[in-house]
Amino acid sequence: MENISTVFVLDKNEQSREVIKSFIEDLSFIKEIKLYEDYREGYEAIKQASNPIVIMDISDNLAELKEIADNIKLVTSRIIITSIDYSTNTIIQALRSGAKEFLPKPVLKEDLIRVLTMFASISPEDENTGSKIITVYSNKGGIGKTTIAINLASELAKVTKDKVALIDLNLQLGDISTFLNLNPPFDVNYVIQRLIDKDDNIFMKGFEKYKDTSLYILSDPSYIEQSGSITTRQISALFTKLKKVFPYIVIDMSSSIDPISLKILDESDWILFTTIVNIPAIRNAQRCLNLFRSRNYPAKKVKIVINRYMENDEIKIEDIENTLSESVYWKIPNNYFTIMEAINKGVTIFEINSESNIGSNFRDFASKVSDDIIEQTVVQYRVRM
Ligand SMILES: Nc1ncnc2c1ncn2[C@@H]1O[C@H](COP(=O)(O)OP(=O)(O)OP(=O)(O)O)[C@@H](O)[C@H]1O
Ligand SMILES: [Mg+2]
Repeated sequence: MENISTVFVLDKNEQSREVIKSFIEDLSFIKEIKLYEDYREGYEAIKQASNPIVIMDISDNLAELKEIADNIKLVTSRIIITSIDYSTNTIIQALRSGAKEFLPKPVLKEDLIRVLTMFASISPEDENTGSKIITVYSNKGGIGKTTIAINLASELAKVTKDKVALIDLNLQLGDISTFLNLNPPFDVNYVIQRLIDKDDNIFMKGFEKYKDTSLYILSDPSYIEQSGSITTRQISALFTKLKKVFPYIVIDMSSSIDPISLKILDESDWILFTTIVNIPAIRNAQRCLNLFRSRNYPAKKVKIVINRYMENDEIKIEDIENTLSESVYWKIPNNYFTIMEAINKGVTIFEINSESNIGSNFRDFASKVSDDIIEQTVVQYRVRM
């Protein structure tokens, strides 16, 4: 079924605006085409529209457009960005600005129609096809999974300005609401029971928005008995729904390996497999990586994260890489005091000290994660262009 949409063309060049209009004005699924030279005015109109599609040119003054682009992507993900410059760097900027598609200028009529037809054939619900489920996992308890999931998710929300979901799937012993001092009225169980409900507002009611950020938190079930009734099928359904709403989904879970955990791991796009630098932890990690290999996870799915890293550790990163036959993706420094202060005050590390070694580490970590996700998409573009 086609969705009838209004198309908003934001372009400083009058001729470009008119050309785009002439290319698409006969398409049956387009109700109206609105042209804007002034991007701010365009954004105000986009906010009011239902089901908008945005075609935005970034040929000049990208810095000035960044704030508007960040606002627009919170309204719709059906954004096409155009530019006379189609270097890899510009495509990265465009995707970072929330574009679902990038088209080099001058825009070709058939390209534009192809993209708009694709937008029209998917319902707004199914938009976030590029969503990623990023699960923080370790088969050993107390390694820092919850700390990492919380602080990575909150930095991802800041760095990307996108909607980020943080989900507590440590179904029996979840800590996220304690670590962030939340008193959520609803939890995973509530949301799972209502998955058949098509209404996004009901689904979103289960989440707690974290302060004035774009981070949305779903807490673990309030009663242990409720966690036992959650099935692997429900986990799949939850993931499908989450991917329709959030571009980034960060999952915290338990360290056990049971059918629910395996389901979560199998269906994650990325596993941030976390370990610390000591012999028992690394032996455990080795066993778990063998399990992942036996499940044929794609090469880039599992990424090794070293927590509580200290420069002068006796065991070196190269030793770990040799033992695990994998390279280390990220290292998080040991900083007990800052983390304990954050946990005790029920806030993120950023709110305690964003410039501490661990505060800046999580900011860089989130940038790397979002850059690597965007780069995967750019590679697909380069192949197509
Ligand atoms: N980088 C770090 N530096 C210092 N202390 C840390 C670091 N990361 C985590 N910790 C400490 O380790 C402890 C365990 O962390 P956390 O609860 O996040 O681990 P977990 O893997 O989620 O545990 P569980 O298996 O119980 O869910 C916490 O007290 C936390 O303060
Ligand atoms: Mg935990």
